[in-house]
Amino acid sequence: MKKAAVFIFAIVVVSAFLFVSAYSQEEMTFVDNSVFTKPERTPSIFRHDEHNEKAGIEECNECHHVYEDGKLLEDESSEDQRCSDCHELKSSGNTPALIKAYHTNCKGCHLKEKKGPIMCGECHLK
Ligand code: HEC
Ligand code: HEC
Ligand code: HEC
Ligand code: HEC
Repeated sequence: MKKAAVFIFAIVVVSAFLFVSAYSQEEMTFVDNSVFTKPERTPSIFRHDEHNEKAGIEECNECHHVYEDGKLLEDESSEDQRCSDCHELKSSGNTPALIKAYHTNCKGCHLKEKKGPIMCGECHLK
């Protein structure tokens, strides 16, 4: 009887943990800046799902894109990869450096849409 209770308790704990770790992906609130060896700023605020919903972005590959021979593949997306998997700290060929990739993607759209932050301190909060 007791053993069964402990077993059930263990299962509950493990599933709660799995649920939380799976869920934390949707709950992303900052862009991880650990690839920058000596960050000069605080990590940028970015509430992934909430942001995309408010901004009305439907396509994942608006940000998680895939290129082949310099051509954007419309129907493919790369959300299983990090930006830093393809964008290195230094640019190479047409592939912009990581910091530029982020700023062009984020600020570029905010400027275009005339909505969303473009000032340093609005993303890199103090
Ligand atoms: C729309 C949001 C946004 C704005 C506005 C913005 N950044 Fe960033 N920035 C980011 C994101 C996202 C990253 C990627 C990693 C991170 O979270 O720091 C980044 C990375 C950086 C990095 C490399 C990581 C580090 O901390 O060293 C620097 C430096 C930086 N930004 C400086 C600036 C400066 C200076 C300005 C204003 C001229 C600015 N940013 C405006 C979003 C923004
Ligand atoms: C406005 C840009 C943008 C859009 C649109 C977007 N994402 Fe993301 N997503 C990001 C950024 C930035 C990261 C962080 C990447 C990194 O750290 O290298 C990220 C990370 C992720 C991660 C990894 C989460 C983590 O915590 O490590 C997953 C999964 C993901 N996105 C899925 C999606 C899916 C699915 C969609 C479409 C429904 C989507 N994204 C749309 C910008 C976006
Ligand atoms: C699978 C590899 C890959 C991933 C992952 C990737 N990129 Fe790129 N990205 C590229 C390549 C390759 C180019 C150059 C395209 C060309 O030849 O013009 C590029 C170009 C860009 C550009 C300039 C052209 C444009 O579309 O505006 C920006 C900005 C950019 N990437 C931002 C990002 C951000 C932000 C992320 C993460 C959310 C990301 N990229 C993830 C491969 C990738
Ligand atoms: C395709 C367009 C687009 C891209 C790409 C984009 N944004 Fe935005 N963002 C918006 C729009 C539109 C708003 C204004 C939403 C509203 O409040 O109506 C916004 C608002 C924001 C806000 C204000 C708070 C909020 O969540 O509403 C932050 C912070 C922000 N963006 C950060 C980022 C960062 C960091 C990136 C890059 C990783 C990024 N955005 C990429 C369109 C975009």
